[in-house]
Amino acid sequence: MRRSDWKSVLDAAGAAALGHLDSLADRPVLPSADYEAIHAVLDRPLAAGGIEARQVISELADDLEPYITAQAGGRYFGFVVGGLHPAAFGAELLVTAWDQNAPMFAGAPGVAVAEEVAARWLVDLLGLPQQSSVGFVTGGQMATFTGLAAARHEVLREVGWDVEARGLPGAPPVTVVVKTGAHATVLRALRFLGLGEQALVTVACDDEDRIRPDALREALATIHGPTIVVVESGNVNTGAFDDFDAVADLADEHRAAGNPTWVHVDGAVMLLAAASRSMAGRVAGLDRLDSWSTDGHKLLNVAYDCGIAICRNAAAHRAAMSVQAAYLEQDSGARDPLGWGPDFSRRARGVPVYATLRALGRDGVAELVERVTTLARRFADALTASGRAEIVNDVVSNQVLVRWLAPDGDHGRLADAVMTGVRTEGRAFFTGTTYRGERLMRISVSDWATDEDDVDQALEALLRHARLATGVATEAS
Ligand SMILES: Cc1ncc(COP(=O)(O)O)c(C=O)c1O
Repeated sequence: MRRSDWKSVLDAAGAAALGHLDSLADRPVLPSADYEAIHAVLDRPLAAGGIEARQVISELADDLEPYITAQAGGRYFGFVVGGLHPAAFGAELLVTAWDQNAPMFAGAPGVAVAEEVAARWLVDLLGLPQQSSVGFVTGGQMATFTGLAAARHEVLREVGWDVEARGLPGAPPVTVVVKTGAHATVLRALRFLGLGEQALVTVACDDEDRIRPDALREALATIHGPTIVVVESGNVNTGAFDDFDAVADLADEHRAAGNPTWVHVDGAVMLLAAASRSMAGRVAGLDRLDSWSTDGHKLLNVAYDCGIAICRNAAAHRAAMSVQAAYLEQDSGARDPLGWGPDFSRRARGVPVYATLRALGRDGVAELVERVTTLARRFADALTASGRAEIVNDVVSNQVLVRWLAPDGDHGRLADAVMTGVRTEGRAFFTGTTYRGERLMRISVSDWATDEDDVDQALEALLRHARLATGVATEAS
């Protein structure tokens, strides 16, 4: 490949990328999902001879463009999915062009230090203990895995068991306390760690899916020995925050009674709230806990995939994740990323975090948290005022749970009809959930690009489809 070919590839990819980003305002949020059609455009025989990279890229862009979801646009409100901040986009391009394999400072010094600085900024911005260690991993799932691996190490170390050396056979039992409805990735992390879902004690929640401190107190009273508790900063359905001060007090008491105790916070949805002064009351006590997981690719709006694991006890974090081999070079004295997460070879995914934090600044991160909360409330207020829907949760952050009110009482069917109508038309995208046995629509405002106009457009489509689905309107009204 000649050097000039880089430019032809960049031109092809850049034109396609810009075309896509420019189309976000108008394209349907959800593309056609015609499996056969997608296959038909991509599934060519793999020829013996290759094709020029420029041509491959421009054909790939043409082939896939009709089937790409407008996730980076402002009207994707499904699941909990962040958009793409321009600084993150630029940093991703650089990280790809640099092609750094970034496990060690020795091999990739520039990006290793950028990640070290991003890690320090995050700890500072979130008001977490200064000595905390940070790992950049692939997502919330692996961030929780990392935090719980450090927890497992530490609570067993405190009873004299080296889990990294001896494994779990014969180990003192570890009890893991979660709340009802704990995110599926917490349960999966426990499976990966050999703790198993049966090590769980499940504690009841209040109406907003916050762990009930009285129920946690009762549960802890029955537990003796190594204990891990998992709570949440931003519930996936309600966006609620657990009472971290109450949890920290109970953990302190449990520890004082002789039980090694570690509290992990699943902050995939809203750990960033800690950067906003207006959220201070909701996250009080967060800094008293032991580890925190969050996503760069959700509210921070870096590209997929990026998760962040933070531990107060850096030694436990390192003991759980570090790796040695004779051919590695880890003695430079600098931070080597591979000691803080489960990857070995890895992309420098902390670099877009560095760039996005710099572009937003402290105030910009706080403003982002506040803006998505305000926009979530805009949805909630308008839907309530319409008389066609009820808001099931107290909207304290970016998540809204909606019950569409069907005249025939089949609210779940109406929720599905409204979501399908809006999705098919393409103006916005929402997903549903079954919450306490009831089918509801969820709204997640997680994109830096979402503005009032996006919310209003989405509201107009939602209410129109609600009228259509209840037979109160024709297509045109
Ligand atoms: C509360 C919660 N925890 C964990 C996760 C998992 O994060 P990821 O999808 O980045 O692995 C999610 C994803 O939506 C979540 O909402």
